[in-house]
Amino acid sequence: MQVNLKILRYNPEIDSKAHFETYTVEAEPTDRVLDALNEVKWTRDGTLTYRRSCAHGVCGSDAMRINGRNALACKLLIQDVGDSMTIEPLMGFRVIKDLVIDMDQFWENYKKIKPFLINDDQAPAGRERLQSQEEREVFDDTTKCIMCAACTTACPITWTNDKWVGPAAIVAAHRFIYDSRDQGQDERLNILNDRSGVWRCRTVFNCTDACPRDIKVTRAIEQVKRTMLYDNM
Ligand code: SF4
Ligand code: FES
Repeated sequence: MQVNLKILRYNPEIDSKAHFETYTVEAEPTDRVLDALNEVKWTRDGTLTYRRSCAHGVCGSDAMRINGRNALACKLLIQDVGDSMTIEPLMGFRVIKDLVIDMDQFWENYKKIKPFLINDDQAPAGRERLQSQEEREVFDDTTKCIMCAACTTACPITWTNDKWVGPAAIVAAHRFIYDSRDQGQDERLNILNDRSGVWRCRTVFNCTDACPRDIKVTRAIEQVKRTMLYDNM
């Protein structure tokens, strides 16, 4: 089949503003949108710029807006999108070139919540720090995050407020806050108990809709809020 890709292009070295360019390529219905983008880049216009790596929904690098919705180009099949699509960069962060956005703020927010196990106790000799299946289950959903930024850039607060920590950072915090082996719960809850933390969330569910890993992002944010209100503070 023939597929039309209308792609928002922007090269700060030559363009005063972004503009659309349309390309037509041959593709199989079962190809991914990423395959069609690669076809454009490899056979039509090598200057087209986008991030991608694993091509299997694992690295999180090729999140972009496809027909107005955030998605991973490597997970979306052409047959599910149709023979015409509009592709744009994620919203809320500066565009560096074409579909590549500046993720610095996103990673700053991620670092803020200390995304690593905090435990000052002596590690047990000769084995891991153990936890039960039930303890592991509590934070299972948020371990699936691949830091693609689809949730944070789908959130309307991100579009207007660069202080907002964003859903992806809260998901990352959730993964440790409820880990029975971690001792940094109070520290992380204090960081998120802020006007730019969980309380900025207005529960619009864009993040949950956008997540390519089907993580219940809004539920994770609400769980952190409830812990602050009832369990901890
Ligand atoms: Fe991506 Fe989902 Fe993680 Fe957000 S929660 S960064 S949408 S994988
Ligand atoms: Fe790695 Fe799509 S290229 S998630």
